[in-house]
Formats: sequence, C-alpha cells, structure tokens
Amino acid sequence: MQDKLTIFDTTLRDGEQSPGASMTKDEKLRIAKALENMKVDVIEAGFPIASPGDFESVKAVAELVKDSTVCGLARALDKDIDRAAEALKPANSSRIHTFLATSPIHMREKLRMEPDQVVEHAVKAVKRARNHTDNVEFSPEDAGRSEFEFLCRVLEAVIDAGAKTVNIPDTVGYNLPQYFGELIGRLIGNVPNSDKAVFSVHCHNDLGLAVGNSLAAVLNGARQVECTINGLGERAGNAALEEVVMTVRTRRDVFTCDTELDTSHIVHCSRLVSTITGFPVQPNKAIVGANAFAHESGIHQDGVLKSRETYEIMRAEDVGWNANRMVLGKHSGRNAFKTRLEELGIHFEKEEELNAAFASFKELADKKHEVYDDDLQALVSDTIQETAADHIKLVSLRALVETGETPSAEITLSIDGEEKKASAEGGGPVDATFKAIESMVNSGCELQLYSVNNITTGTDSQGEVTVRIDKAGRIVNGLGSDTDIVMASAKAYISALNKALTPEDRAHPQRL
Ligand code: KIV
Ligand code: ZN
Repeated sequence: MQDKLTIFDTTLRDGEQSPGASMTKDEKLRIAKALENMKVDVIEAGFPIASPGDFESVKAVAELVKDSTVCGLARALDKDIDRAAEALKPANSSRIHTFLATSPIHMREKLRMEPDQVVEHAVKAVKRARNHTDNVEFSPEDAGRSEFEFLCRVLEAVIDAGAKTVNIPDTVGYNLPQYFGELIGRLIGNVPNSDKAVFSVHCHNDLGLAVGNSLAAVLNGARQVECTINGLGERAGNAALEEVVMTVRTRRDVFTCDTELDTSHIVHCSRLVSTITGFPVQPNKAIVGANAFAHESGIHQDGVLKSRETYEIMRAEDVGWNANRMVLGKHSGRNAFKTRLEELGIHFEKEEELNAAFASFKELADKKHEVYDDDLQALVSDTIQETAADHIKLVSLRALVETGETPSAEITLSIDGEEKKASAEGGGPVDATFKAIESMVNSGCELQLYSVNNITTGTDSQGEVTVRIDKAGRIVNGLGSDTDIVMASAKAYISALNKALTPEDRAHPQRL
C-alpha cells in the first residue's frame, strides 16, 4: 500500500497575497467548491483576523465545504487563534494553522524576540489552538533559513504541545532541491517525536524551484505539500498544485506515495482561478498551459498518431482537457442554465443576480451559438461584478474605427447613480475608451497591464480582458468579457476602478 500524500491548497490565502489577486467572498466560494470537487484534502480559506471580509469568507467556505478540511491561518497570537476558531466553527472538519518565524533574521529584525521566547510563544499558540480543535498545524516561518538545531527544538516542542502537522516553509524561495530534501529527511530523523506529526512543506518560487523543492521533500518523507492552483502566491508564487500532483502520479515508479485527487478537475480549476484573479496562464505552462499537450512539429505528430506514448507522458483527458463541454445554446431555458451553473458549483445568493446572469447568457447565446463552461464562468464573474454595489457602472459605449480616421469612443457611465457622458480620441478604440472613462473619473491610477485572451476558440469567441492598475501602491485587477473586445476592455477597466476606489483595510499575515 502506498502512503497518502495530503494536498493542502492555499490559493485562497497565500494565492490571494499576490498583488492584485484579491477575491470577493463569492469568488472564494466558487474556487473552494471546485477544490472540494477535485478532492483536495485541506483548503486554506484565508486569514480570518485580517479584516471582517476575510473572516466572513472563511466562515462562508466553512459552511459550504463538506468533504475537505477547511483551514484558517493565525499568527501565534491568542486573538488571531480565537478569531480563526470562530470563523471555522461551521466546518465539518477544520484546522487552525498557526505560525511564527524561526530564522535568525526574522527573529531579530521582525519579531525582536530571543529564541527562547519564540519557543515559548509557539508552544503557547499551539496549546491555545488545541483548545479549539484537535487538528492544529504549526509553521516555523522562514524555516528554510533557520538554524537546524533550533528548528529541531521548536518542532519537538510544538509536537509535544499537540501540533498534528508541522509545516516547513521555504518562505523566501531560497532553497535548492537536494539540500531541502536532505533537510526534511534530517528533521524527521532528528526530532525525537517526529512520528507523532505529519511533516509538510510550503515552498515559494523565487528561484523557480518551488515544485522541485516540494518534490525533493516528498522523496525524503514529507507527506503534505502546500501548493496553489497555477502556482499563484506571494511574489513569484507557491508550488503549483497541478505540477506536484501530476509529477507524483506520473512517476509512481519513484514516489512511494500518491494523492487522492481527481485530476480530471485540474484544467477547470486552473481556468477558474485565472478567470477570477485575472492572472493569465502562460501557454507553455506545464499541465495547464494551452500548449501543454499540443504537438506542433510534424515528427511529434507522426509519433503521437502511431502511438501516444512516443511523446506523451500523461493523457490530456486525465487532467481535464476536453472537459470544457458545449453545454448550452440559444434555446436553452432558465432551468437548464441554473442547473449547469449548479453543476459548476455556482449558486447565486440573490434571485436578481441569477436573472441578470440569465439575461446576459441569452444575449451571449444570440451572438455566439455555442456556449461553453468557460463562457459561463466568465459571464458569472461579470454579472457578479456588475450587480455589486459599485460606484461606476457602464451604461453604453460607442467606439468608432475607420481607415484614415483617428479612433474615437463615446461612453456613458453611471457614477454614484448620476449619468455622465464623455468622448475621446486615442491610438485605438480601447485607448480612446479608457481616456473617455478617465476624463470623467480622474482616478489617478496607473495602468500596469492590459491583456486579452479568447475564452474559447473561433472568431466568435468571447474576449476576456484583464486590466491591472496601481492606485498609490495598491494594485488591483479588473476583468471583463464580451464577444466585442472594446466592450470587454471597458468592463475590465471599470471593474478595476471600482476595486481601486473602494478603501481596503486589511492586514497582511506576514508583514505586521
Ligand atoms: O511562506 C510562508 O512562510 C507562509 C507561512 C504563513 C506558512 O505563507
Ligand atoms: Zn507562503
């Protein structure tokens, strides 16, 4: 019998720490449902003390998810731990994840604590968490740069205090696979009570080694990997779930453990996270990139046609390629629409949101005869954004492009309930549209990124536009989709502006 490798997904917590990737409660619920459907073992739903919104999101995930364990992050502070426990109360199965830095630089510069104090605080935090649940995880933050003897001392103490999982983070992505693997093996060999806890790893990708380091750890005895969909996460991101899971599954000859994931959901989860966060997936990204299973060169195609195994080490369908079914058309009714959304884990809290989404679906089905799951996901994101209590709403847009003429746009917005109209010229219709919007909003935001992707294939496909803007150092993303990309661009820009102009008061777990 193979050992079980626990998959701990932190897309909703560490993933959300990527600048611009913040998600609403509804968006987090959709992702949590998709992760549960994929049979992820533990879903880290957020950092409840960070803000009332974060608390509500973790609570809502705890209410929704039945089969996965729902986890909340807490610093090693009583108030954080109690808040996390409160948010997790509705969960069928919950875990509190508490952490404290153990590297010399973090203890000295950030915590301003002596090593003895760190041990004392860590033990106290784990005991406090154990008063709420049996399922407690402790992370010595920046373990990858901590002193080995001290790390052993902390781990022994927290396991004694009742931690059931000890997670070794390479917080700054500094480690190399061979050494990180050895470190995990040595920790398991040297911590006297290591058999009382699951050893986990949490690797960041600053040197592009997050997946390599995680897998080296697994080869040396780690039995939980913390990862995110598409490798989203703080700075260069975390280990990509899809790469970890598929490597272990594909190389069963090497690994003595396996996950219980239903890998056929991987592509769907990847698309969903990309659509919601506005972080596109590069075409050559392993497993989930558009080219990951495309065989361009003639020699490869010939080989694959004769026998797939000549060039394919995995089957595209095993990770969910081809699962983007054409589901609905222009004659589909409201019930069929609602049922398919429910199958995708999308439930509208308000009837008016469902009605608005159905109206947009009818409009889309008129323009584009075949509506796919990915179209539905984009449409739902748009509807939720549009029905939110936003300052700025798009009323109408007219963009003109003519050979030999300067492109121009005329746009009407509703700003705090008052209709305003403006027109502008630009280098192209999108530029003109953004200028017209800015002439009314005067946001002072700087455009950092503008990108367009097609959601499905074909010229009638919807374009999905991502806009990233910077408002005095705060970075937000906006998304918009439409069969007309100028319209999609306007929607994306307005969505980003609405986020940027809403004050955010939210703590970052590792920067306090
Ligand atoms: O990277 C890190 O160290 C973390 C901890 C909170 C586990 O995200
Ligand atoms: Zn992290």
